[in-house]
Amino acid sequence: MKQALETIRQQAETLVGAAQNEQELEALRIRFLGKKGELTAILKQMGGLAAEERPVIGALANQVRENIEEMIKTKAGQLQSAALNARLAGETIDVTLPGKLPAQGGRHPFQKVLGELEEIFLGMGFDVVTGPEVEYDKYNFTMLRMPPSHPSRDTQDTFYITENILLRTQTSPMQVRTMLEQKPPIRIICPGRVYRSDEVDATHSPIFHQIEGLVVDKGITFTDLKGTLDVFIKQLYGQEIKTRFRPHHFAYTEPSAEMDMSCFKCGGKGCPLCKGEGWIEILGCGMVHPEVLENCGIDPKVYSGFAFGVGLERITMMRYGLDDMRLLYENDLRFLRQF
Ligand code: DAH
Repeated sequence: MKQALETIRQQAETLVGAAQNEQELEALRIRFLGKKGELTAILKQMGGLAAEERPVIGALANQVRENIEEMIKTKAGQLQSAALNARLAGETIDVTLPGKLPAQGGRHPFQKVLGELEEIFLGMGFDVVTGPEVEYDKYNFTMLRMPPSHPSRDTQDTFYITENILLRTQTSPMQVRTMLEQKPPIRIICPGRVYRSDEVDATHSPIFHQIEGLVVDKGITFTDLKGTLDVFIKQLYGQEIKTRFRPHHFAYTEPSAEMDMSCFKCGGKGCPLCKGEGWIEILGCGMVHPEVLENCGIDPKVYSGFAFGVGLERITMMRYGLDDMRLLYENDLRFLRQF
């Protein structure tokens, strides 16, 4: 029996040493130490031994059991660390490889100029509001003193959804909407998209952008208009820029004017950019017509106001020296990456 136990120990040693993985090892544990295993089989035969031999063989059997358990434990540890090493080797990351940079977008020149403009007006206490591009005829025209027969409508032909609903031709309807909703003091600018049935060329597009401005309060005069717009242009183009106002006509302002700024390129001497004039036309403006105030439920005997409208395309082109408006719409990355 001693011999049999010794043989089991030796066999176990050889087989455990050669085990390739944890499953094989588990199979060996069952084979040698399991309830129906080889060692148990030997112990079962102990009944046939002489009384004095039993403790000796029992002790030996226990020793063999402990030996085999130890072998299996050691081997299991070796297999585990070998498996871990193999995994680590397989998952090595080459930290010296250059990373993949995500494509980075930039702000469109419109957004940059609009952002600057908004900052300037926010600094003067204005709110920024937006309104619908699909607009009622009455807000776009009639309540701004341009009834259906008015000649000004000819220059602002647009796309009609129904007889009374159209794509707005200007941001000026936001004057009406603001005054209907809000009582003075009012100080807003309203940037947005506008539509006219124009052919596309270097300076025209059927979709373009305006920024409307409106101030209504007690005691607002033309001086406030001039001062505000002068500050605006100087902040956008430089303190050395001068402004001038020429009489003009808009149905919804009285008096009305167009504002020019001195040419930032030649300083007013005359150059190709200003077509030799020294001045560049920049926006339309005027004192809100008393009838418009009245149309919106504001008493013109108590309140007065001024308004202006500026084209975002125009000031963006001026700002970056662009000579073709279409560049701003074509989404050509070779152009856009320059900003
Ligand atoms: N709506 C005018 C246009 O599209 C621009 C304009 C002129 C707006 C005078 C105004 C204003 O608010 O007072 O040409």
